[in-house]
Amino acid sequence: MKLDKEFNTVLGIETSCDETSASVVKNGSVLSNIIASQQVHSEYGGVVPEMASREHERLLAYITESALEQADTTIQDLDAIAVTYGPGLMGSLLVGVNFAKGLALRNNLPFVGINHIEAHLLANLIDAPELDYPFLCLLVSGGHTQIIRVDGFGQYNILGTTIDDAAGEAFDKVARLLDLGYPGGPLIDKHAKDGDARKYNFPRSLSDSGDLNFSFSGLKTAALYTIQPMSEPERQAELSHLCASFQEAIVDALEMKLRDAVTQTGIHSITIAGGVAANSRLRQRMTEMRDELNLELYYPDFQYCTDNGAMIAYSGWYALQNNIQHDLTLTAKPRLSLSNNSPI
Ligand code: KG4
Ligand code: ZN
Repeated sequence: MKLDKEFNTVLGIETSCDETSASVVKNGSVLSNIIASQQVHSEYGGVVPEMASREHERLLAYITESALEQADTTIQDLDAIAVTYGPGLMGSLLVGVNFAKGLALRNNLPFVGINHIEAHLLANLIDAPELDYPFLCLLVSGGHTQIIRVDGFGQYNILGTTIDDAAGEAFDKVARLLDLGYPGGPLIDKHAKDGDARKYNFPRSLSDSGDLNFSFSGLKTAALYTIQPMSEPERQAELSHLCASFQEAIVDALEMKLRDAVTQTGIHSITIAGGVAANSRLRQRMTEMRDELNLELYYPDFQYCTDNGAMIAYSGWYALQNNIQHDLTLTAKPRLSLSNNSPI
């Protein structure tokens, strides 16, 4: 398709939760990806929305300047601005969306709003542009756990989803029970490396439900009942085994349903995305499954799994190649989903 204008160089802005990030993508290649993970939330064991928006406000201009500088790019070199407009925390989204609109207006640049979940999914294409449709995506983040059938850009069919907690949320809640800090996923991943994953037998919910849905609240409660009665020294001694056993239960549930999805759809190309896709055990198990079932497996580089501006700049670039852009009436949508979404 011939476009009226070429959109080679795109600035992407991400502020949906507690990462303030900006990136420049040129012709599909990431030139910079600056991420500030807000530290203010760690002592609260979770994100404090009001503090998150204030931090975005404080950091965003500086992070954007750094992203431009690292990409050796000026505002005048940009062809468009992309920004996450949902889903996420309202106050946090508003900071990014208004900042991006201001830049677009001041510099007379095209503007495109990006669905954060779609960007996680498309992050798989950053280093693997050869990835062909259709493919399945296991999207696992702090707010989502879904298996999505992707038939093309903007063509998403959610085959399964969590009926309660998201996988990342379960990691974070159990990390809090273990006093590990926030975000908990990477810390559980780290402690699990020395642990025995069979020591504690945590439940694998909905394993024979016949559908592709997930449930992690029973697992979280089982972890609570196991951890709460322990004395502090006992908890310390058992930490690696608790982490390994809990992590194994999550990964088992994810793998089981993805396996079912492969069988049900006959699609042999699979991807993982979102913050939990950074989990080392999940990556290992996915690789084993790929070898066993002779699948094609893709997952994004670590820096593109957890929230980052590069996936927004890349999705913006991709959307613009597909003739999608928005006007400045676009507003933040905290509850945006993949299925209620026109392409972006
Ligand atoms: O995608 P993301 O950065 O933000 C959302 O869109 O939610 O995902 C954040 C989630 C957190 O729950 C965090 O604990 C989890 O991803 N996470 C991990 C790992 N790294 C991040 N979970 C398990 N293992 C990891 N290595
Ligand atoms: Zn995310």
